[in-house]
Amino acid sequence: MPPVADGPLAVRGDFPIFAREREGRPLAYLDSSSTSQKPSVVIEAQAAHLREHNANVHRGVYELAQEADAAFEGARRTIASFTGADPQCTIFTKNVTEAINLVAYAWGRSNVGPGDAILLTQMEHHANLVPWQVLCAERGAELRYLEVDEHGQLSLAALERELERGDVRLVAFTHVSNVLGTINPVAEIVARARAAGAVTLVDGAQAVPQMPVDVAALGADFYGWTGHKALGPTGIGVLHGRRELLEQMPPFLTGGDMIASVDLEGATWAELPWKFEAGTPMIAEAVGLAAAVEYLRALGMERVREHEQALTAQLLEGLAQVPGVHVTGPTTAEERGGLASFTVEGIHPHDVAELLAREGVCIRAGHHCAQPLMRCLGVQATARASVGVYNEPDDIQALLAALHGARELFALDGAPPARAA
Ligand SMILES: Cc1ncc(COP(=O)(O)O)c(C=O)c1O
Repeated sequence: MPPVADGPLAVRGDFPIFAREREGRPLAYLDSSSTSQKPSVVIEAQAAHLREHNANVHRGVYELAQEADAAFEGARRTIASFTGADPQCTIFTKNVTEAINLVAYAWGRSNVGPGDAILLTQMEHHANLVPWQVLCAERGAELRYLEVDEHGQLSLAALERELERGDVRLVAFTHVSNVLGTINPVAEIVARARAAGAVTLVDGAQAVPQMPVDVAALGADFYGWTGHKALGPTGIGVLHGRRELLEQMPPFLTGGDMIASVDLEGATWAELPWKFEAGTPMIAEAVGLAAAVEYLRALGMERVREHEQALTAQLLEGLAQVPGVHVTGPTTAEERGGLASFTVEGIHPHDVAELLAREGVCIRAGHHCAQPLMRCLGVQATARASVGVYNEPDDIQALLAALHGARELFALDGAPPARAA
């Protein structure tokens, strides 16, 4: 049973990984934007499925196979209801990268051609950028980008100007930026795009784990996300699509399980959602992801957001006290998701991450799969700290203390250099 919590979130004990220590210190895991840790209920749901109900799906008549079917399709219903989507229009993919590729291939190859434009933003993860570059190169379409301003925000006026050109077939954008933390106004962008006759795709990889997301209310034609960032297993992602579009689209991958019938000359396709799920799907992973969203639902996504916002506010305040630290993106925790990317004058981001790692503080450094955005920001890399439901104020304190220590080590306060351990 998932926990039913009230009051501030204190769920660290639900995550067995935090039994680990580093040199007697608790693990300060601040890399949840990269992947989340998993609660026992997820690990156990997956293990119990494999232990007690394992069989292939959609093809067996014996009891075990029917249990596997029930578990897999039940997981789809649970996951779809978590994000307010129709289970029949909820397709399992390997991750959000594959969800976006599915749309780029199955919708893009039949709907985009010369004279058309795809509109992205400068803040996209490569997962929501490279598939469109490849599509545009192949189909002779134009790729254009909405700029990110100095506060890490998109301009709706610029969106209007782009849409007025009349050639935009698709607007694809992230719900929450994995670098800036910016929370984009999804419903507003979708409504404007729809009014201009453009289809929309939202990359919800960073949003679904940390805030209430109602796909139906947002109205996007396609909304993709990835299980491993939402306390679920790796190897499973989700694409929610608009039924009319999914029905018109040809399959993405072909083979077993996605057909209605096959003869030597050709094949016809299965109903939604199976038309887009070729081969044996990720069965135990779906069960694990269903347990993850049940767990999140029991916590309450409003409370998850409040918890992570409070930690982000603490992080932003703390970083503002460290000389030479520059944080990218919106200035307040209300305007951003649970992360902060930053640079430290005089220390390369990789060195920052390395020095923090020595103190048991896990953060990420690099381009975060957003090289074009890095160029816009005028940097090659940033350090990024990101929070999850299991983080506590002490984790932020550990990061800030380690950051002050790193500056001392680099003699950035004018003190003689400290000796590295
Ligand atoms: C905004 C965003 N989109 C897409 C992805 C890609 O996720 P996955 O590797 O699970 O497909 C990530 C992962 O970092 C992300 O942060």
